[in-house]
Amino acid sequence: MDFNTLPQLDLANRSVFLRLDLNVPLLDGVIQDDTRIRAALPTIQYILERTNKLVIASHLGRPKGKVVASMSLEPVGQRLSELLQREVLLVQDYAEEPIDSLIAQLGKNQVILLENVRFHAEETEGNEVFAQNLMKGIHIYVNDAFGALHRAHSSIYEAAQQVPRESRAIGFLIEKEIAALTQLTVNVRRPYTLIMGGSKVEDKLAVILHLLEHCNRLLIGGAMAYTFLEIQGYPIGNSFVERDKRALCQSILDIAQARKVEICLPIDHVCGQSLDANTPHQVVEGIAIPAGWMGLDIGPKTIRLFESYIMNSSTVFWNGPMGVFEWPPFAKGSLKVAEAVARCNGFTVVGGGDSVSAVNQAQVAARISHVSTGGGASLAFLEGTPLPGLRVLEKRTEHGG
Ligand code: 3PG
Repeated sequence: MDFNTLPQLDLANRSVFLRLDLNVPLLDGVIQDDTRIRAALPTIQYILERTNKLVIASHLGRPKGKVVASMSLEPVGQRLSELLQREVLLVQDYAEEPIDSLIAQLGKNQVILLENVRFHAEETEGNEVFAQNLMKGIHIYVNDAFGALHRAHSSIYEAAQQVPRESRAIGFLIEKEIAALTQLTVNVRRPYTLIMGGSKVEDKLAVILHLLEHCNRLLIGGAMAYTFLEIQGYPIGNSFVERDKRALCQSILDIAQARKVEICLPIDHVCGQSLDANTPHQVVEGIAIPAGWMGLDIGPKTIRLFESYIMNSSTVFWNGPMGVFEWPPFAKGSLKVAEAVARCNGFTVVGGGDSVSAVNQAQVAARISHVSTGGGASLAFLEGTPLPGLRVLEKRTEHGG
């Protein structure tokens, strides 16, 4: 994969369209975590040092082609304005106000932020006319929306094609993400520990299978662990089980065995009586979970076991929480894993919304080699699936086009 990076393009006085992933968590209009906004700053600042003709676009949430007030980019625009010390003009209707005339009116200390592109159904449909409107009067297309590269949406895929390949580039965040994630599959340093959690094994299957070719151990926590325990014959009480995924889990165990990858499942648990934030809870010693209880976090012995594997690793990749992390009685497993990953001296990468939240809550992000801004995108990249948003930015296609 070969891409233009920003320093390879002459941006002086050119008009630039920049696609970002500013899909930040909002609660009642208040940004809960601005990591994705701050991660975009080096690219925005680099462009603004060379041209003031900058149009930024992003999605937020999944409004399904409708204007949904709670998914407006307005709070994001305000935060961006504070961080950039510039006026951010939030443009509501870019069909009525064409982009080229907006750029022509742009003042020196202003930057354009287009309102949520997903307010238009054409965005997710990959509509070409929509992309042509977005790119009216634009010379250069830059994508730094790492978290959205797996979506063949209009502002990601079609918009890039409105300018020649030599006028398309990746931003600094995508460059950094590719460099870090590549180290998880190329010339990896061993021992290499993969930590997988979360609820749905199917979403992670392709990445697990791909990374089993490289890692030495796979630690499994979170809800997905109970299906693995169940197929091994352990009683799991009322724990969450993906009954139709038993064969899939068995195939992961078989492939791991064939590749001599050690599998490590929880050996004790923090259990609740129901899936409720205020459910009574207790530590259940041992692997078996009694009837009437459900595993909602890994227990203290499992934490110590996972910590010892993590600390003695030269490479670690963690995706997915170890329990129902958003409820305090079941958060400890994920927080302790976050701290252990931070203490590990090897190359460490964390990806995926809840595991990144655990890292932030444990205040250890600065001690992790790379915290990915992509959830689905980082998994798709690690699976080796071609990402539409990257393919369209490659300098040459397979056919030399
Ligand atoms: C994400 O949060 O993973 C990205 O912003 C992509 O969002 P999506 O899954 O709604 O396309």
